[in-house]
Amino acid sequence: MGSYLNFPIFIILASLLNPNIHVSGDSQPEILNIEQYLQDSPSANTRFFGGRNFNTSECTSLSPEIRSEIEDYREVVYRILETTLTGHFQGKTYDDLATFVDKFGPRVSGSDALEESITYLGQLMTEADMEDVHEEEAVTPMWLRGNESAILLSPRKESLDIRGLGFSVPTPDEGITGEVVLVRSFKEMQAMKESLAGKIVVYNSKTGEGPLHCIIGASMAAKMGAIAALARSATSYSLYSVHASVQFYDEKIPKIPVAALTLEDADMIERMLLRGENVTIHLTMTNTASSERMSRNVIGDYKGRELPEEYVMLAGHSDSWDMGEGALDDGIGPILAIEVINLLRFLNLTPRRTIRNAFFTGEEAGLYGARRYVSDHRSELDSYSAALEADFGCLRASGLLFSGSTKATCIIHEIMQLYSQMTNATSLIRVGGVPTDIYLMNRGGVPGIVLNGDDGRYFWYHHTDADTMTAMQPANLDRCLAVWASTAYIIADLNEKLPRD
Ligand SMILES: *[C@@H]1O[C@H](CO)[C@@H](O)[C@H](O)[C@H]1NC(C)=O
Ligand SMILES: *[C@@H]1O[C@H](CO)[C@@H](O)[C@H](O)[C@H]1NC(C)=O
Ligand SMILES: *[C@@H]1O[C@H](CO)[C@@H](O)[C@H](O)[C@H]1NC(C)=O
Ligand SMILES: *[C@@H]1O[C@H](CO)[C@@H](O)[C@H](O)[C@H]1NC(C)=O
Repeated sequence: MGSYLNFPIFIILASLLNPNIHVSGDSQPEILNIEQYLQDSPSANTRFFGGRNFNTSECTSLSPEIRSEIEDYREVVYRILETTLTGHFQGKTYDDLATFVDKFGPRVSGSDALEESITYLGQLMTEADMEDVHEEEAVTPMWLRGNESAILLSPRKESLDIRGLGFSVPTPDEGITGEVVLVRSFKEMQAMKESLAGKIVVYNSKTGEGPLHCIIGASMAAKMGAIAALARSATSYSLYSVHASVQFYDEKIPKIPVAALTLEDADMIERMLLRGENVTIHLTMTNTASSERMSRNVIGDYKGRELPEEYVMLAGHSDSWDMGEGALDDGIGPILAIEVINLLRFLNLTPRRTIRNAFFTGEEAGLYGARRYVSDHRSELDSYSAALEADFGCLRASGLLFSGSTKATCIIHEIMQLYSQMTNATSLIRVGGVPTDIYLMNRGGVPGIVLNGDDGRYFWYHHTDADTMTAMQPANLDRCLAVWASTAYIIADLNEKLPRD
């Protein structure tokens, strides 16, 4: 546990929320611009990635040779589109994803369900005839949600729906009772410092700072003497949904229990307090943290025909958070990656380079599998043309997030022109760093691509009980497969690796 809840990991996680927070070198994270982060006003697609739409006027110097080399893939892309949208693979991704997530349910780090699902993914890779399918060990932490309740005692009695934030300490057996103080920002809390001792802090931010309350809100409130913290869910829309992720304690400050509550309850508490009412809550949480558990990354190759020692990675994470059935986050990642290999084989398409499927464990708890992979495979990073990961749902095939050189961005833009009309995947957002498992490879110089499956509703479902197949539509998954297969195949088959500068 000790090594887990440390400051650098928080920075890595925070940098996933906003690339303004950079990680320099190998392991020396530094905060460059947290002030700006705190002031950012979130807007739809850029909310969690700090990216911007790519302006193609930067591509005038892209050579005619590369443009024509890419244009030559039009026929191949047409076959991929035909097979996924109306042919043999129509509806297949939906069916295979449903089979996977219905079979195992939520796959939280440390659970048997996760370990069994990793074995199953290895079997799917073997069935897809991939080579060298194998597992690589990686330690993950364990935290089990117990019974959780928050009872509003005053001004009226009511049970509030909550979810403990990942790795929250439990309350004492008899629970914690306290008067509530509501704050909208860390700055406001600082100003109210004197009145927080012995109180339960409720965070109710409607700005970009909100998600940060869920990540470090407990320690920030404990520093002022609070006995527990409740944070407004980091979801963009709610039908009484609770959103919960991992949170991080500052080891130097006493740990207090922390949970997320619904937007509806946070707003109600705010209204009650504004009326001058005395709001009191009784909180009970019996979750437990236990020792670490050995888990596994699972890896398999679709060998390249000319340059098998060069790679394009198609990644996903096997674990999920412990609500819903982890369909969007991230059942899609592994299932789409395997489907791409099945599809390319079906079409007799073998690219020049190897396409490597890699499914990482322990992503939600803090990129445990991905960090182990990068540390073991550090010397191979130069042999990657790109790392791709689908970890942003597929409510619609919106496009791609890309982190790499301007020239590489222009190449990706050219590739997208081959399928954007048929799939509606038109948006190319250039980001300072990609989120999720491939973040570390990307920081190590490998161009990173994340499938953008957001239609504006991703954070309605993300990390809530509603992350299920009911949010999915087969036709959208077919479009995502077409985008993913075309992009991965062309990058793996181009004469040159994607340029890094
Ligand atoms: C793209 O960049 C060009 C040149 O800098 C600029 O004139 C144009 O307005 C930009 N387009 C958009 C949509 O930002
Ligand atoms: C949760 O509550 C049930 C029913 O009271 C009890 O059997 C179970 O042991 C509790 N679990 C934890 C982790 O406290
Ligand atoms: C609020 O209610 C609690 C519990 O009933 C009580 O201990 C506390 O004194 C009350 N505070 C105020 C300001 O009325
Ligand atoms: C394609 O995109 C347009 C514009 O965003 C949208 O109106 C339309 O519904 C989309 N079609 C599909 C099939 O997603």
